[in-house]
Amino acid sequence: MSDQVKELVSKCLQARDMAYCPYSRFPVGAAILTADGAIITGCNVENASYGLTVCAERTAVQRAVVEGHTQFRAIAVTCDIKDRFVGPCGACRQVLMEFGTDWIVYLAKPDGSYKETSLSELLPLAFSSAHLAKN
Ligand code: THU
Repeated sequence: MSDQVKELVSKCLQARDMAYCPYSRFPVGAAILTADGAIITGCNVENASYGLTVCAERTAVQRAVVEGHTQFRAIAVTCDIKDRFVGPCGACRQVLMEFGTDWIVYLAKPDGSYKETSLSELLPLAFSSAHLAKN
């Protein structure tokens, strides 16, 4: 495991511990590696009006943009499930797609083991800004 991936996975595990999820009790953590080597984290933030919940991946994207990053290399995502690799929800896949089709996605288990996949694998035939440009 490269040191950078190890750090990314470790940061997403730390972010999961910050999750605000009193309703689902399902903590999720995410960590984005930006093109310039910064790591920006996110966790899920729930709300009593359940539909207003924001997933960990989207929290991380929003933080990254506010901090001036829009070029991303990879994202690591984790939850508490120990016996399988869990991918981002469909809405988050679409939000990640906004910032490029060729991201690496690391699906991490609580023990730090991970599976490498990609956004194009997770969201094939995606709708993106490239389609809008054709009109
Ligand atoms: N959740 C995420 O943070 N990311 C996902 O990709 C899937 C779901 C959160 C939302 C909610 O707080 C909890 O997990 C249960 O759905």
